[in-house]
Amino acid sequence: KVKEILGEIADKHRAEFEELYYLLEHLNPQSAEILFFYAHKIQIRSYGREVYLRGLIEFSNVCNRNCSYCGIRRSNKEVERYRLTEEEILACCDEGYQLGYRTFVLQSGEDSYYDDSRLVSLIHGIKESYPEVAVTLSIGERSYESYKHLFQAGADRYLLRHETASETLYQQLHPGMSFQKRRQCLQYLKEIGYQIGAGFMVGLPGQENEDLVKDLIYLQELQPQMVGIGPFLPHPKTPLGGFLSGTVEKTLVLIALTRLLLPESLIPATTALGTLDPRGREKALRAGANVVMPNLSPTEIRGKYELYPNKICTGDEAAECRLCIEHRIEDSGFQVNMGRGDHLEWRR
Ligand code: SAM
Ligand code: FES
Repeated sequence: KVKEILGEIADKHRAEFEELYYLLEHLNPQSAEILFFYAHKIQIRSYGREVYLRGLIEFSNVCNRNCSYCGIRRSNKEVERYRLTEEEILACCDEGYQLGYRTFVLQSGEDSYYDDSRLVSLIHGIKESYPEVAVTLSIGERSYESYKHLFQAGADRYLLRHETASETLYQQLHPGMSFQKRRQCLQYLKEIGYQIGAGFMVGLPGQENEDLVKDLIYLQELQPQMVGIGPFLPHPKTPLGGFLSGTVEKTLVLIALTRLLLPESLIPATTALGTLDPRGREKALRAGANVVMPNLSPTEIRGKYELYPNKICTGDEAAECRLCIEHRIEDSGFQVNMGRGDHLEWRR
């Protein structure tokens, strides 16, 4: 029955709750290989052997939120906080541009210091120097108006993981935040015209297969252009520090199922997966992922953007990561594409 369901989803790119639940309950290492095979085939059909690189700039670790899994949460007083200036961020972009990057992902905690006028000026600065690059923002929840201003200033894409599609779990993990509001933000971003990225963590404390099925069903409804999926990794200075991390196997299964449901999506092989397993990102590429986001942040501050412990690449120069990742991609049977790497529907 597992094979039958997999074949059908690979064919139709649609699934019912019960089918996905059955798969998560019954997949074993052998049938997971069939799933990865389908995911790989679909990935090749959509994007060929291309893997897109995005330069990630973690420009502030100041965060007003208190997500119970996150190392840079407001209550963690042991974090040394930093904010990069516009000039410093532009210098990262400059280095990235020289290395060939044509997408910059600007990520931070939810830091109100970066108000619309600062961000608009930054986006203009990037677009004036490099008109052909894509700018992706990953700066959390903001108002409709703010999202609109940033889009009009030239931002192209926005990553806002939904984190979990279980309302109960969401509310437990995000004190003072709202499940509905997060989804509303994704809806706004989509309406405004961004290429949007949703996504979730695998292996959160208390997360059941049923919850992961909800994540997949939500993605199927939302149809985001990008989907970030990574294992939960416990950070000792957070309330969830004592729990176990998510597993590589389960994360790969969810990446592959996402590839089946959203055949043209852009799915990163996440840093969290690379942190959990030294070959994690390569495994993700073989299971349906087609994006890697090497770090472009200045090395002096990298260690301070510690969402979870032992994050990889914190000591490496941007140029080293660029080369290291290229080797990893080629060793996995893919080729690096340094273009903007828009979603296929945008190119059409
Ligand atoms: N503040 C923005 C937001 O909330 O969308 C962007 C930055 S946020 C730190 C980036 C992502 O890191 C989150 O969406 C979350 O999924 C992930 N993350 C945070 N802590 C994590 C942990 N302990 N293990 C795995 N992923 C984590
Ligand atoms: Fe940073 Fe390999 S990607 S060192």
